[in-house]
Amino acid sequence: MKQTTDFKMMKQNKEKITMVTAYDFPTAKLAQQANMDMILVGDSLGMVVLGYDSTVPVTIEDMIHHTKAVKRGASDVFVVTDMPFMTYHLSREETLKHAASLIQNGGANAVKVEGAGHVISMIEALTSSGIPVMAHLGLTPQTVGVLGGYKVQGKTADAAIQLIENAKKCEEAGAFAIVLECVPKQLAKEVTANISIPTIGIGAGVDVDGQVLVFHDLTMFGVERVPKFVKTYADSNDLILNGLKNYVADVKTSKFPEDKHTFTMKQEELSTLYG
Ligand code: KIV
Ligand code: NA
Repeated sequence: MKQTTDFKMMKQNKEKITMVTAYDFPTAKLAQQANMDMILVGDSLGMVVLGYDSTVPVTIEDMIHHTKAVKRGASDVFVVTDMPFMTYHLSREETLKHAASLIQNGGANAVKVEGAGHVISMIEALTSSGIPVMAHLGLTPQTVGVLGGYKVQGKTADAAIQLIENAKKCEEAGAFAIVLECVPKQLAKEVTANISIPTIGIGAGVDVDGQVLVFHDLTMFGVERVPKFVKTYADSNDLILNGLKNYVADVKTSKFPEDKHTFTMKQEELSTLYG
C-alpha cells in the first residue's frame, strides 16, 4: 500500500496520482484490481448511494460503515474518508474524536476536510495528533448553501489569490494533499506549482498532480447526467438495466431457469417418494 510520502514523491517525479471514490466492498475491490493509487470514501455517498440531494445529511456512522466495507474490499489501497458536514467545526476535541473514529473504527488511512478559514487549525490539530489529512478547496459541496450553488470557484483574480493562499496554509498546517474541485485550469496549475504537496483535481484541468472522479459518474451507475468535468468510461446503467430486463422477460415466459440451473432427484428416489 502506498503512503503519504509516496504521493509526495509521485508529485516530484511527475507521476500522476489516480483516485476514485468507492463506498462498498465490490466497488472497492474493482478499484484495487484497477491499480488505483488512492480510494476516497467520499460523502458524495449521500447522493450517489443513499439518494439524498446533498452531502449534508451524511453522518459519521455512515462514513464508518462504508469505510469498513471499502477497506475489506481494498486492503492494499490507501483509503481517505471524508469527514461529514459539521463534524470538524465545533471544537478541536470533537474534530479529533470524529477523525479518530474514522481511523480506528472505520479503518481509514486518512481523512479529508473541506475549506480553509478556521478549518486550517483543525488540519493542524489532526496532523499533529498523527492523523493524515487531505484538504479540499475550490467548490466545497458541504458549504454549497453559502457558495450559492455548485459552480466554478476562483474565477476572479482576487478569489484566485485567496485560493492560492489557502492552499499554502493547508500545506503549512500539515495536509499531505489537496483536492481542487471546479476551479479554472490556470488557477489549478498555479496552485500546483506553488506547493510541494500533491494537488488532486476534479474539474480542475490536467495540470495538477492527480485526478479524482466519483465512481458512479465514471461508470455511469445510477446517475443519468454527469457534470461537464466528468468523462464516463463505462455505461453500467445500460449494462445492468439490460440484464434486469432480460431476467424479467425470461421469468415471465419461463425461459429461466433452464435445466442447467436446476437440481434433480434420482429416479429411484422418486419411485420411493410416489410409491
Ligand atoms: O465526496 C466526494 O466524492 C468528493 C470528491 C468529489 C472529491 O469529495
Ligand atoms: Na466529499
